[in-house]
Amino acid sequence: MSDKKAAPVDDLMDRIVSLCKRRGFIFQSSEIYGGLASCYDYGPLGVELLRNVKEAWWRSMVTSRRDIVGLDSAIIQSPKVWEASGHLDNFTDPLVDCRECKSRFRADKLGEYVCPNKKFKKRPVTECQADGFFTEPRASNLMFKTHMGPVEGAGAEAYLRPETAQGIFINFLNVVTASRLRPPFGIAQIGKSFRNEITPGNFVFRTREFEQMEMEYFIPPGEDEKWYEYWVQNRFQWYKGLGVNPERLRLRPHDKEELAHYSTGCTDVEYEFPFGWDELEGIAKRGSFDLTQHSEHSNAKLTFYDEEAKAHYTPHVVEPAAGVTRSAMTFLIDAYEEEQIGVDKKGKPDIRTVLHFHPTIAPITVAVFPLVKKEGMPDVADRIEARLREDGFKTFYDEKGAIGRRYRRQDEVGTPWCVTVDGDTLADGTVTIRDRDSMEQSRIHENELSDHLREKLQAWTYRAHG
Ligand code: GAP
Repeated sequence: MSDKKAAPVDDLMDRIVSLCKRRGFIFQSSEIYGGLASCYDYGPLGVELLRNVKEAWWRSMVTSRRDIVGLDSAIIQSPKVWEASGHLDNFTDPLVDCRECKSRFRADKLGEYVCPNKKFKKRPVTECQADGFFTEPRASNLMFKTHMGPVEGAGAEAYLRPETAQGIFINFLNVVTASRLRPPFGIAQIGKSFRNEITPGNFVFRTREFEQMEMEYFIPPGEDEKWYEYWVQNRFQWYKGLGVNPERLRLRPHDKEELAHYSTGCTDVEYEFPFGWDELEGIAKRGSFDLTQHSEHSNAKLTFYDEEAKAHYTPHVVEPAAGVTRSAMTFLIDAYEEEQIGVDKKGKPDIRTVLHFHPTIAPITVAVFPLVKKEGMPDVADRIEARLREDGFKTFYDEKGAIGRRYRRQDEVGTPWCVTVDGDTLADGTVTIRDRDSMEQSRIHENELSDHLREKLQAWTYRAHG
């Protein structure tokens, strides 16, 4: 890449949010009705990005392994699940109200906010705290409550799940019986979760409706440290392997007072977002907490028989818990670059916006263009695009506007390769293939395109997992 000219950090998020809307990654939800705070919809490219993130995770956690199986449990579960898991009592954040401007803040994150009150010109809210504006912290439960059936009332109360994990614990017996797995083994799940966050924000980083990718790894007691270390390293590598800049990734073990009510140890994979270092994923030691709780509350026997010890035991759990939407946002931020690639006719810097997505994450793998809209080139390009699509590539066809402009549009959405049909194609069947990152172009016969792209994808995958 040539001289990097990154956007000033101050407005990097604004630029990414604007690109996401302009190019169809992420939209404000209910926009035509004025929008609904902290809710987002994923557009044509965003939905492909999310699917690719989930597919990469599922491949890494489930289909490439023998010891992990998948599950898709209901979002609404018996309220007894949340009693047993401790969420009804303990899944809270400390909340403070500002008596001056009536805003609400998480008491444990005061350092992150600026005052929304115009009178104080965006001063840090810690100063409002020092001025004695805040109420005493009180616990605010994050569970989304709803009711089942046509009648509202105490017996009809239900909750939207705040994590996918509990669906795994309550299906432990079903999965073990059906799959005959023995520890160490895992159950993985991807799906939506809901939390009534006090302060959602930073685009899709913290929202009230989001998607998680979680895996509960069941192990014999005593193997906790070994598997904890294994999954911390494995998950860190996953982000690196998918091209995330390792300098913006770090591991941060939790202090004791930060630990969730179920956890005896946790390490976060953190990323350096434009708004600072923050959690991307947590890898937690959950011990036997969940299975023990569900055994006690349901009377189901959630244990294994140890042949050697001739005794039953409750497996311990190590849990890597990641966010789909938070990962997608991270891939977007990490891939974003405003790169100077020369000077224009007036001598001004020529800047292209490019997303350097790993090809397995990129919403479009290959775009196909006719150089001009005449001399039969569109027909040939159309045929080549259809063939690549049939060969399983995610393709895009574009014949509108100057070729340079079309390349730039693909750079901006992170398409790794563009194929152009020109006069030579009509004579000898060769096409131009342009690389997004180096912008280099080479010629290749159209019949070799699919193999060539497969090789290139494989080389990237090797870089990711090798
Ligand atoms: N089962 C454990 C658990 O849910 P967590 O750290 O609360 O752990 C796991 O959540 C991951 O889910 C986080 O690391 C983050 O990526 C994602 N996540 C959690 N809350 C979120 C929110 N409000 N918005 C977006 N993603 C969220």
